[in-house]
Amino acid sequence: MILDGNDPAAIAAAAHAVRAGALLGLPTETVYGLAADASSDAAVAQIFAAKGRPSDHPLIVHVASAEGIAHFASEVPDFAQKLVDAYWPGPLTLILPRLPGVAGAATGGQDSVGLRCPAHPVAQALLRACAAPGDEATQGGPPVWGVAAPSANRFGRVSPTTAQHVQDELGADLLVLDGGPCAVGIESTIVDCTRGVPVLLRPGAVTREQIEAACGIKPLSKEDLPALTPRASGTLEAHYAPHAKVRLMDAKALQTGLDLLGSDAAHIAVYARVVLRSKSPRLVIRRMPDDAAATAQQLFAVLRGFDDERVKLIWIETPPPSPEWEGVRDRLQRAAAA
Ligand code: TXA
Ligand code: MG
Repeated sequence: MILDGNDPAAIAAAAHAVRAGALLGLPTETVYGLAADASSDAAVAQIFAAKGRPSDHPLIVHVASAEGIAHFASEVPDFAQKLVDAYWPGPLTLILPRLPGVAGAATGGQDSVGLRCPAHPVAQALLRACAAPGDEATQGGPPVWGVAAPSANRFGRVSPTTAQHVQDELGADLLVLDGGPCAVGIESTIVDCTRGVPVLLRPGAVTREQIEAACGIKPLSKEDLPALTPRASGTLEAHYAPHAKVRLMDAKALQTGLDLLGSDAAHIAVYARVVLRSKSPRLVIRRMPDDAAATAQQLFAVLRGFDDERVKLIWIETPPPSPEWEGVRDRLQRAAAA
């Protein structure tokens, strides 16, 4: 069931449901999440079951403001506090040392916790309503200080960026707050703050350069620390996959491929910044914007759209090598590895 996220009655009903242990499709500025009370092991177990996700893959816990950190983290290093000051609320998740005894199931039993404070007004309203202890409209359980929410897709698939995508992934019975299409379009930047220096686990709208500018330390990459590789499922090599096979190519290889296929090109979609020539009337073409943020915003909806057209192959022009494209490059490389 999809409810209008701008309706205060819908927020109250959704907060009531979360406090009673139910699942909720929640809009954020990055992607839609599948939300539940982070302190309830039973509620969190439902998230893993609905997504088909292994239960040792930790979930991000969402809080209404930076004050929420103290409920979950035992320590906030100086550089992490600078990142909070610069980018919360916003598309940035921080991995911090976990307080013992909180959010055990949500964190997959790790001694760390991923915390994010989303900026989307519907997410903000929901998180505040969940935490408001005296609010009669949302009563039906204790206050909820943190809402665990992975992206609301089935495990390994493309994250949803509209309420309808959430329904398509998880069924019409799920309660979903509609907050419109997501403005960022790819998942939050994740910075591990448990290793003395920032480590970029997942690139996103907050770039590597912005992290360095905010805290004065150049972030390491997960490749710099091989021992920690498989902890984040969004960092598995193959992930974010549409049903069709994805190939990344430069503009020249794309044109050569289309020339080779001539008028026979069918069941193929192309997503490129350059203008391409094809003799085939059946080729599905979408233009990739020249701007990284605009591409991120539409990327997952474009991939879903290609699946809806039942193409078998998706040929995508390799994004530029510049830093602002790192998030988009990462998602496409992983889609191509699947
Ligand atoms: O933008 C986002 O971050 C969205 C919205 C809904 O907030 N959420 C999201 O969640 O992308 P999910 O579960 O699809 O991806 C979260 C990533 C996973 O790769 C997970 O392994 C990693 O964060 N993660 C969470 N807690 C962690 C921890 N304690 N240590 C290492 N990685 C962690
Ligand atoms: Mg995900």
